[in-house]
Amino acid sequence: MTPQRRRDEPERPWLVWAVVGAVTLVACVVVVVVLGGGGGGEDAATDGGDADGRTQYEQHCANCHGIDGQGAIGPALSQGRVVERFPDADDQARVVAEGRPDLGMPPFAQTLSDDQIDAVVAYTRTL
Ligand code: HEC
Repeated sequence: MTPQRRRDEPERPWLVWAVVGAVTLVACVVVVVVLGGGGGGEDAATDGGDADGRTQYEQHCANCHGIDGQGAIGPALSQGRVVERFPDADDQARVVAEGRPDLGMPPFAQTLSDDQIDAVVAYTRTL
């Protein structure tokens, strides 16, 4: 009887550690899922960030002007090119608002508010 009890006893702490390990794993998975969900929430928040020039740029301009403004279908805007061409940011904002439809640059006056256009213009001047 006594040897049997001794065999049983060491198994219990082992099981306890197995359970603790399993719980720890589950906790890690929960943390990862919660953080992943939090990331999605941040994305949703930036999507709604009306005056965030970078978000506007990535949504409306990057596919033609490149994610870093390096140019693609549209000309490069980065490395001060746009500041050189439009010393007055208001002139640049007008081009963005009115576009150059015949040259492939769509007008954004209907899509973006004045604040959003100002924000995206300011952003392109930092690229
Ligand atoms: C469908 C593609 C397309 C999209 C989307 C687009 N552009 Fe353009 N953009 C062009 C093209 C093409 C030109 C060149 C027009 C020309 O030849 O004058 C241009 C020209 C410009 C210019 C003038 C550059 C210069 O040197 O004269 C600016 C500034 C500009 N785009 C900013 C933007 C901004 C800001 C956005 C987003 C709100 C945007 N563009 C979205 C295609 C696009």
